[in-house]
Amino acid sequence: MKASSIATALAGGITMFSAAVQADPGMMNSSVLEGLHEADWRPQELIGDLQWLRPRQMSPVSHLIRSILVDGFDAQSNEHYQHVPPLRSAACARDTCCVWWYIAKEMSQLFRGTDGQCTDAARGAIRAGFHDAGAWSKTTGDFGGADGSIVHAPEEMLRRPNKGLQEIVQQYKFWYDRWSHFGVSMADLIQMGANVATVVCPLGPRIRSFVGRRDNFKPAPDGLLPSPFDPPDKVIAMFSAKTIQPLSLAALLGAHSTSRQRFFNPARAGAPQDSTPGVWDVLFYRQNLAARSPPDVFRLPSDVVLAEHPLLFPAFKAFAGPGGQALWAHEYARAYLRLSLLGVFNINNLTDCTRVLPPRTLKW
Ligand code: HEM
Repeated sequence: MKASSIATALAGGITMFSAAVQADPGMMNSSVLEGLHEADWRPQELIGDLQWLRPRQMSPVSHLIRSILVDGFDAQSNEHYQHVPPLRSAACARDTCCVWWYIAKEMSQLFRGTDGQCTDAARGAIRAGFHDAGAWSKTTGDFGGADGSIVHAPEEMLRRPNKGLQEIVQQYKFWYDRWSHFGVSMADLIQMGANVATVVCPLGPRIRSFVGRRDNFKPAPDGLLPSPFDPPDKVIAMFSAKTIQPLSLAALLGAHSTSRQRFFNPARAGAPQDSTPGVWDVLFYRQNLAARSPPDVFRLPSDVVLAEHPLLFPAFKAFAGPGGQALWAHEYARAYLRLSLLGVFNINNLTDCTRVLPPRTLKW
């Protein structure tokens, strides 16, 4: 596709890179766009109950989520609370989001370090959000996904891909004990936690955050989370079965911008996956595309082979290049919103509580 036809493509409902490209159509050259997978240009799949709801049955939240997932609207927002009622007041009890403002505040205190960068707990929360929601595929329907089972079902913690999540799972048990009597679900705590952690990381996107997910105490189906040894085609197929196409996969992998591996290679425990693990920046993409990484950085084998894969390379290059930070924030937010709703079949009844999130740190 030529750069000149991007606007036409977007007007036709093709959603790729929408906001960023609309803002600055010259920001990416056509060769980058041409390399993208055909699945990235198609309108993206609907998930959960959005698949069968008719427009007139859809709540405003469903319309909003649909417009983000399918029409390419931005999943980032700066909406914030004007006046938060006191926690134990009747006004707070009437407002679904009120308690979440207090929870998000408590979470951000743990996720922001004294130096302003995001902490180990923040990294853990971002990864836990993926590992709870990501244990789902189109074949599992309403079993698995963003349902809190990673904490509620102890068996999940014995699974190899979940190694390293023990501390954050303990933290979620603590928060659940503290907040569940306000009617808060574990599934929502985990996804809100991931979004609070992401925006607390300097330069991190402020992703729209919805609450009302239902919990499941049954262990999620096994074998649906990737291994760093998986060949790239397997990982791409695994994410596609979660309705996540290569561009979104490339965006999600950027969460390793804040990562420090501990168990994959214990001899280098604590080694980051880019040089700035406390900051949500695009260095991860640049350092995975480079022939060699700096000695302090430990690249995961899956990141290296996925960065080179023809279906992901164009996105890695675009995120690493000029304007890449804004582009990545836009694509990550959309992809993470989708991920955070996998296996959720009551999207129509969710509440938009984006206004409880802390503000973004736009400069670092
Ligand atoms: C191909 C897909 C992926 C693979 C194979 C993978 C694998 C891994 C591995 C091996 C680690 C290090 C664990 C350790 O040794 O301590 C890790 C850490 C991490 N991953 Fe992934 N990951 C993938 C995708 C994702 C996605 C989609 C997200 C989030 C959206 C994510 C978020 C994180 C975070 C934040 C950490 C750091 C955790 C910490 O520092 O405690 N990963 N990942």
